[in-house]
Amino acid sequence: MTDWQKSDWRAKPRVQMPEYLDGAALNRVESKLSQYPPLVFAGEARTLKAQLGAASRGEAFLLQGGDCAESFEQFSADAIRDTFKVMLQMAMVLTYGAKVPVVKVGRMAGQFAKPRSAPTEVVNGVELPSYRGDIINELAFTEAARIPDPEKMLQAYTQAAATLNLIRAFSTGGYADVHQVHSWTLGFTERDNAARYRDMANHISDALDFMSAAGVDSDHAHTLQTVDFYTSHESLLLEYEEALTRLDSTSGKWLAGSGHMIWIGDRTRQPDGAHVEFCKGVLNPIGLKCGPTMTSDDLKSLMGTLNPKNEPGRLTLINRFGAGNVGEHLPRLIKTVRDEGANVVWVCDAMHGNTIKSASGYKTRPFESVLREVREFFAVHKSEGTIPGGVHFEMTGQDVTECTGGVRAVSDEDLSDRYHTACDPRLNASQSLELAFLVAEELSALRNDRQAERAG
Ligand code: PEP
Ligand code: CO
Repeated sequence: MTDWQKSDWRAKPRVQMPEYLDGAALNRVESKLSQYPPLVFAGEARTLKAQLGAASRGEAFLLQGGDCAESFEQFSADAIRDTFKVMLQMAMVLTYGAKVPVVKVGRMAGQFAKPRSAPTEVVNGVELPSYRGDIINELAFTEAARIPDPEKMLQAYTQAAATLNLIRAFSTGGYADVHQVHSWTLGFTERDNAARYRDMANHISDALDFMSAAGVDSDHAHTLQTVDFYTSHESLLLEYEEALTRLDSTSGKWLAGSGHMIWIGDRTRQPDGAHVEFCKGVLNPIGLKCGPTMTSDDLKSLMGTLNPKNEPGRLTLINRFGAGNVGEHLPRLIKTVRDEGANVVWVCDAMHGNTIKSASGYKTRPFESVLREVREFFAVHKSEGTIPGGVHFEMTGQDVTECTGGVRAVSDEDLSDRYHTACDPRLNASQSLELAFLVAEELSALRNDRQAERAG
């Protein structure tokens, strides 16, 4: 890999990237960014890779979630804290059910660029270029707002740095201390899953009190008081990614300094395309979105390119087939992975295959479909004897009404109440927690099966 250059992607066909009109302005931004500090360090990316390797063996479980698109306008400490909090709650529910460590990865601190299904958008007969995320252009429906502006990369970097700084503070500054398990509840979850969560939190508190009384916890104080929380985003805007790529002096390898884990979207995974070319050369853990159109040949070739040494934890296959389609597509991808003897982490993105247009005109996702895709994912792995390694969601700690359903039953008519996403509909805090309970049940059933197998 030594002859790989971070700019090699420029010679490959690119899709879903903006055409910047002002080349000089673009160059100025790139050279500024390339002097800025990286947001993450190589050692962290390597630790995450090792933890994902454990997830591929069923010794850990990945929880990946956050905004579809981070927004400049909705950027606030409260929003970051609330998403972080819900992820901690979900992780606690999963750890409690699965009895394995949960690897927490936010779609945060860099999730700004969006692939779109069409290059333009028509509203009331007016056609304009599509919105591509705040790092590229603006959501407002005017001609000027939709022109790609390279300066936005600098604002995205600043927001990502501030977000990561707060996450690091929350992770190690006492907020994430497991003894706080009771205090992570958000006010508006009271009516829904609150009782169930409180019950679990009581059990955890009891266990902690017991350990403390028995003198067990002192050696593990640090483990209980802090969490590892990683960042991730789609590696879509390659000028930004390249500018933040740094040589790691310890290993002599390249690091994408924009986030701990980066992924390749379902629309940009062409084996000979620019996005694969960029990702193949960096040491970070790489996610690869696999939708219904992923062929076995493409997967084979992508695994060879992205993980030639078959390193555990390097490659995560994020499946997003849609409820009702998992049985048709997952088994053939599992067969390909098996035939190749490849190490991968199997992860279920139960969002992107379940987007529909509601009767009221909003883009939404029925919570029922999200749950169903998760169940199907577990069922296929059970029958194939393979390992479900994690889940991937679009969610927020805010009390939004973007996905229909859930215990508090958001209806089609409710969608307009608090529909704030800049892109795809997200699960709200209550729906996220409900989902975590379902995943925990699946994981604990799996664990019981394994124990029964060993005993029998
Ligand atoms: C996303 O994760 O927001 C996304 C666009 O996903 P996909 O590439 O799977 O469509
Ligand atoms: Co999305």
